[in-house]
Amino acid sequence: MARRKIIAGNWKMNMTPTEAVALVNTLKPLVVNDDVDVVFCVPAIDIIPAMEAAKGSNIAIGAENLYFEDKGAYTGEISPAMLVDAGVKYVITGHSERREYFAETDETVNKKVLKAFAHGLTPIICCGETLTQREQGITIDWIRQQIKIAFLNVTEEQAKKAVIAYEPIWAIGTGKVATTEQAEEVCAAIRACIGELYGAETAEEIRIQYGGSVSASSAPELFAQPDIDGGLVGGASLKPDFGKIVNYNK
Ligand code: PGA
Repeated sequence: MARRKIIAGNWKMNMTPTEAVALVNTLKPLVVNDDVDVVFCVPAIDIIPAMEAAKGSNIAIGAENLYFEDKGAYTGEISPAMLVDAGVKYVITGHSERREYFAETDETVNKKVLKAFAHGLTPIICCGETLTQREQGITIDWIRQQIKIAFLNVTEEQAKKAVIAYEPIWAIGTGKVATTEQAEEVCAAIRACIGELYGAETAEEIRIQYGGSVSASSAPELFAQPDIDGGLVGGASLKPDFGKIVNYNK
């Protein structure tokens, strides 16, 4: 069974609700590709207006974060039930910017992953190495550790549905995309790691994205790799270019 590609935009902290509606309306006719699941992960305040604007299209609206408790005194946080009630299907967990600026750790990522699954949300689980770690030659060890912790207590059935985004930190927002070989090498290693944890069937089914300066010109070669099942796209997801990325195979 061939894995279906999944191409997700990560808007980060961009777009007011008004701008979000305009962007969804601009991109709606451009991101049609029957071979691809298309997701726009948007700021929490944009979820509902973006969802309205995307109605009747192939775009699924996702979130950029969630909290790992169901409800209560956690000022400023968004619960999984809130996301589900708003119609969200996908949620990014453990993006490197959240790890760097908001003290997210492998342990909190694991809690969020478990909570997302408990509420029927599909987590897009981010991992990635720094430039120093790559130069030290520990990339694969580091990524394997991130994956093993993120998947603690995740069942096989859940793991099959998960999405992993391999995003080398040095490639994010820098215009310095990983080479196809670098990206494929790590995505293949992630799949092998999932195989060790859950067996061959899960490794075959789980979808692994590449992220980090994906552009209309780099997408076709990246997404043609055997272990790369699409992308998590930041900067280019805010532009009409995102339509070209989604239609990488046309
Ligand atoms: P970028 O961001 O495409 O702007 O490099 C990717 C990401 O952070 O998900």
